[in-house]
Amino acid sequence: MSKKLSISSIKKRKGQEPLVMITAYDALFATLLSESADMLLVGDSLNMSFAGKKDTISATLDQMIYHVSAVCAGAPETFVVADMPFGTYIDKESALKNAIKIFQETQADCVKIEGGADKANLVEYLTQNGIAVCGHIGLLPQSVRSEGGYKVKGKTELEKIELIKDAHAIESAGAFCMVIEGVKAEVAKEVAESISIPVIGIGAGSDVDGQVLVFSDMLGFFEAFTPKFVKKYMNGASLVRKAVASYAEEVQTKAFPKKEHTY
Ligand code: KIV
Repeated sequence: MSKKLSISSIKKRKGQEPLVMITAYDALFATLLSESADMLLVGDSLNMSFAGKKDTISATLDQMIYHVSAVCAGAPETFVVADMPFGTYIDKESALKNAIKIFQETQADCVKIEGGADKANLVEYLTQNGIAVCGHIGLLPQSVRSEGGYKVKGKTELEKIELIKDAHAIESAGAFCMVIEGVKAEVAKEVAESISIPVIGIGAGSDVDGQVLVFSDMLGFFEAFTPKFVKKYMNGASLVRKAVASYAEEVQTKAFPKKEHTY
């Protein structure tokens, strides 16, 4: 029996067992991560942690499709969310055309788009045309340049009201779940309680319906900076350094390869 969650089983997790979402960018890690994750997100964060760029803005549709396709191949039994990159959903037509391209060229189960009430018409158009949508509200990494940095949201009463309005708009437009990023915990809780689809948090406290982390952050591979909300479950960078230093030393001293590694 397939272990892959369906849209309806994800919706049923509202207020129930928290959803575990992790980003993945390639088949190798997708296979490993899918053993414990309910959903894999091929986030445009790959532009930073995989491609070495300083933000997500320059990620392209073709780049996303390449990575989504690899993740789906590595984890065929796991629900895969594909981020739509910056500039690929500026209006209804471009959103649908680009989402269809993702669906036709990969096995993605849904797309994710950043934005609140201002994007509700796009969410509605995509869902009406058979593309499932995961929303993304709060801190929107694709707005980093227009906002002049990564700003935590929900700090004022007005921001709280806006966030609740955004969540309602995205839900009414047909999204089946949404990510809420970089929001004061008590506000994220109110947002989650105000709608009936799952709200998956990142930097939004524990009173939501699930969590998502960027895998290279949580495994300690990404060292450029560590946001406050990241917990490192291992120190990947130092494990890799140690292993590769041993390899280098053994190559130089001819301790590797040994007889058992030789034909
Ligand atoms: O691109 C990404 O990885 C994301 C997460 C930060 C939610 O959108």
